[in-house]
Amino acid sequence: MKPNIKNIAVLTSGGDAPGMNACIRAVVRTGIYNGINMFGVLQGYQGLISNNIIPMDARSVSNIIHLGGTILKTARCLEFKTEEGMELAFQNLKARDIDGLVVIGGDGTFTGAQRFGKKFGIRVIGIPGTIDNDLYGSDFTLGYDTAINTVIEAIDKIRDTADSHDRLFFIEVMGRDSGCIALRSAIASGAEAVLLPEKETSLDELISQLEVGASTKKSSSIVIVSEGHKDGGAYDVAKKVKERFNHYDTKVTILGHLQRGGSPSSFDRILGSRLGFAAINELLKGSTMQMVGLRGNDVKTTSIDEALTRHTFKLESDLLEMTKVLSI
Ligand code: F6P
Repeated sequence: MKPNIKNIAVLTSGGDAPGMNACIRAVVRTGIYNGINMFGVLQGYQGLISNNIIPMDARSVSNIIHLGGTILKTARCLEFKTEEGMELAFQNLKARDIDGLVVIGGDGTFTGAQRFGKKFGIRVIGIPGTIDNDLYGSDFTLGYDTAINTVIEAIDKIRDTADSHDRLFFIEVMGRDSGCIALRSAIASGAEAVLLPEKETSLDELISQLEVGASTKKSSSIVIVSEGHKDGGAYDVAKKVKERFNHYDTKVTILGHLQRGGSPSSFDRILGSRLGFAAINELLKGSTMQMVGLRGNDVKTTSIDEALTRHTFKLESDLLEMTKVLSI
């Protein structure tokens, strides 16, 4: 039997990701279209605890589809990990008769939703929104595609100067424990090598790859280092390589938070719209503790438990093999 849901709140939490606004717009408008009173929670779980909850109508989400960041703001909230914090959050939802919650974020957000939903029985649907692409059950998370486009635009520029000066560049990209941004950026930018957190790449292997390039007249090279790599960040790796291989003048660039901003790509706008629409429809059907994600070209649900436990299986090993072949 369908539940009689009247009030739904939406929040964004953890690192912002391009496409979150397109998604908020879809959540709010799909809810309103179905006769639901919609609310926005400001600053993620922090706003739930401090009662920063506002009503939203169709016009509250006008002209935001093209904006990066999140109009609802976001935060990484330690207090929500405590029993007291969760209790306060629940009381604030109860006071407004909010019986459904849509959370948009990454693994930290989903972990919060998992505990909160189980403890209070509130209906929760998660939408994968993180540039890291590290949730199982969605081939793509919101913001990942835009982040890769941002990275390759930057690397294209670095390649111009690297080649003009015959230099070796180490470029560090985000992704915490996930090498997804690094790997796809490596393919799309034609990088010579990529170092990922999920995969052991020995310095010996990297150096011999660079040596082969130098001996076959490569005048410059680009190595992408994922921030979570075991040998440290790009500065550490560059230093270690330079001690044993100094054929090129070596430079380091950390791309940092510029990867999180910017207008979302068409892919992320459409993904955000589809997932926001699906999240409300799932709540209205009676689903809870599910994530809506993209598999193939279909929107599918995965339990939040599963989305959190299986994310390490995501690395596309065929792409990794390709970086070696295509960079000779
Ligand atoms: O989870 C997204 C992400 O951008 C990671 O890639 C990165 O490690 C982290 O957030 C940085 O977090 P903050 O913006 O809080 O420094």
